Amino acid sequence: MRTKLVAGNWKMNGGLASNQALLAAMIPALAGLTAAKFAVCAPYPYLAQVRQVLRGSNIACGAQDLCQFESGAYTGGVSAAMLLEFDCRYVIVGHSERRSVFGESDELVALKFAAAVKHRLTPILCVGETLAERESGVTETVVARQLDAVIGCCGSTALAQGVIAYEPVWAIGTGKTATPQEAQAVHATIRARIRAAADRRLADGQTILYGGSVKAANAGQLFAMPDVDGGLIGGASLVADEFIAICRAAQVARETVKA
Ligand code: PGA
Repeated sequence: MRTKLVAGNWKMNGGLASNQALLAAMIPALAGLTAAKFAVCAPYPYLAQVRQVLRGSNIACGAQDLCQFESGAYTGGVSAAMLLEFDCRYVIVGHSERRSVFGESDELVALKFAAAVKHRLTPILCVGETLAERESGVTETVVARQLDAVIGCCGSTALAQGVIAYEPVWAIGTGKTATPQEAQAVHATIRARIRAAADRRLADGQTILYGGSVKAANAGQLFAMPDVDGGLIGGASLVADEFIAICRAAQVARETVKA
């Protein structure tokens, strides 16, 4: 049985005061939700604050990116070891905004995945197709290529050391969500790919999140899908009531599956 995970991706948003208010609302509301896991991925400058405020809570701290190198002359880079010093458990790699705005290739994303795993950080590997790719019927090919880059770089069992987030690019920040059936179909192909590359046990244990306009109103239906193990939440993770409701939906989905 896989435990649902809900991770907030604050992107380049927040500030000391608003972070404090958001976390202060979330901490007591999520405290009793023991059947799911929660995290927030904050911008680098706020990791010290977030770590401090979250101490003792059931919400883990995460970052949104990392440098593929260990240390040295890489101006602007932030290493896995640095993230660990701030108690990060998760780090997003290969978010579509990093791929499209900052030009990150599949190969670079794979190196970042490897750097995270080496330091026992859990990478949240984002994969997903653009609207043009979906319309031309190559969704599976694109997602397979993105997964295979990591398998090629890090080995056939490497994906199990991370979390995968299927995020169709056309659904990110657009208000257009994949239907639960559309999400389920891609999640099932991702799991099948892992089964083929590694084995059934690792595939069955792999956490695969859905991301792209998840909100309180659609989280329950998405999380009820058999291969959807939670969500990576952008815009709605900045609104306390929305994020709390999404986390509750993960807890309820877990309880439903168990029953
Ligand atoms: P969204 O973003 O929830 O605002 O669509 C998700 C993401 O980019 O991770």
